[in-house]
Amino acid sequence: MATLSIDPRVSGRTADFVATDHRMLIDGRFVPAASGKTFPVYNPATGEILTHVPEAEAEDVNRAVLAARRAFDEGPWPRMAPSERGRILWKIADLIEQHTDEFAELESLDNGKPFAVARVADVPLTVDMFRYMAGWATKISGKTLPLSAGYDFHSYTLREPIGVVAQIIPWNFPLLMAAWKLAPALACGCTVILKLAEQTPLTGLRLAQVMDEAGVPAGAVNVLTGFGEGAGAPLAAHDLVDKVAFTGSTEVGKLIVKAAAGNLKKVTLELGGKSPAIVFPDAKIDQAVSGTASAIFFNHGQCCCAGSRLYIHEKVFDQVVEGVSNIASDIKLAPGLDPSCQMGPLVSDEQYRKVVSYIESGIAEGARVQAGGPVSGVERGYFVRPTVLTNTNPRMKVVQEEIFGPVVCAVPFGDKDVDAILKRANDTVFGLASSVWTQDLSMAHKVARGIRAGTVWVNCHNVFDASLPFGGYKQSGWGREMGEEVLNNYLETKAVTVAL
Ligand code: NAI
Ligand code: MG
Repeated sequence: MATLSIDPRVSGRTADFVATDHRMLIDGRFVPAASGKTFPVYNPATGEILTHVPEAEAEDVNRAVLAARRAFDEGPWPRMAPSERGRILWKIADLIEQHTDEFAELESLDNGKPFAVARVADVPLTVDMFRYMAGWATKISGKTLPLSAGYDFHSYTLREPIGVVAQIIPWNFPLLMAAWKLAPALACGCTVILKLAEQTPLTGLRLAQVMDEAGVPAGAVNVLTGFGEGAGAPLAAHDLVDKVAFTGSTEVGKLIVKAAAGNLKKVTLELGGKSPAIVFPDAKIDQAVSGTASAIFFNHGQCCCAGSRLYIHEKVFDQVVEGVSNIASDIKLAPGLDPSCQMGPLVSDEQYRKVVSYIESGIAEGARVQAGGPVSGVERGYFVRPTVLTNTNPRMKVVQEEIFGPVVCAVPFGDKDVDAILKRANDTVFGLASSVWTQDLSMAHKVARGIRAGTVWVNCHNVFDASLPFGGYKQSGWGREMGEEVLNNYLETKAVTVAL
């Protein structure tokens, strides 16, 4: 299918890839949807169609699941020497690294994020994730256990791959989310069906080619493009799938849990957030200003851990709000591939409308706009100006709900008592992340203990590493991604006891 519109700044190689007749990876072959259907992929900087990709439905899902089932039950992947699995994961990392610019261009074009950011964040973090998990492939082991029942037994545990894994990912970090899911599952010896987000399938399709080239055997990884209801739902419900790992909205997370009930497949979920950033009066103010601004504006606020509730001590409230608002007002909006771009468009028309309607609802309920607002001033594309709201109250939608855009609510506090501060910070159904800005060590650690969230950053925000576990308390999810902890998502433990 012909490319209808592509940014002239992309390299010929990227343009050629965008224009190819896209195929899904099923059972080691690149195939169209069984129905022959495709759907359009949009450039969020213009609203124009970039290309078309196959629309997987139940029949394609079934073929992919059967392939992954066969690859798990009979194929080489779970039986391969761990070092060989590790070597293939390392090769995937090398190939991605060799094509850094191409992956970054594709990500920028498809998702809207600045090319420069994709190049220094999304792609290198993806490479690190595959390398880190390549290392784990040879280090997954059980324990020997002394039984109190006596010394006539020899007991040990085996850590075995959980089986066929369905993985469903969102559009905010399309390539990186694929890596967070694929790398640990593959390191453990699982076989996978990965469904890409319908808004941003391009880097995942390119990754499918790379995984094939790196020597992942047929059926061990299958990559589908399709919609949530048409492809995600039958995948989450499929009886031959042993485990489903999902990242996306809390609403769909609840649907995944229900879909998984049929065969009681295991479930892990990485869902929404409404993360607090708490600035104490003794914080280094310049650091707190730039840090809390980037906590919300990084990736256009399209981060599950975005610092969207900014609590600032009343002594420094005006100063911090002014600083963050100045940064917001200075941010240059442009297409992601424009070298001057500091913030690109949001990912889709749907997301654009959602974020603008939140800003409007905040204003209607009495919030004051310190920077930004509902009108971006950019002629076309899904641009939203980074926005700072004050004069909110805890019951407003903008304070309670995940906006998933560059919108922060700044709230003053005068509390001296740490419990009162924690009560505000924890006043949410979510519990994904948080940051605290202070020079007071004791306060930092007290807040770190008291926050009900999976991540606490001190004098920083949005710091990720393949070695750091990441995930949510409360309605932000089940289980952890990354680090050694993620291996639990993809392993079963078997206890073996031998009477001596
Ligand atoms: P979503 O949760 O609908 O989509 C995420 C993934 O789930 C996509 O691959 C989608 O195709 C799939 N999906 C959708 N419905 C499904 C179903 N019934 N069964 C199985 N899979 C299904 O998120 P969406 O619509 O893209 O964004 C809506 C809101 O969700 C955002 O505004 C944001 O608040 C939140 N979100 C949170 C993310 C996070 O990282 N925690 C990521 C993306 C969105
Ligand atoms: Mg949705």
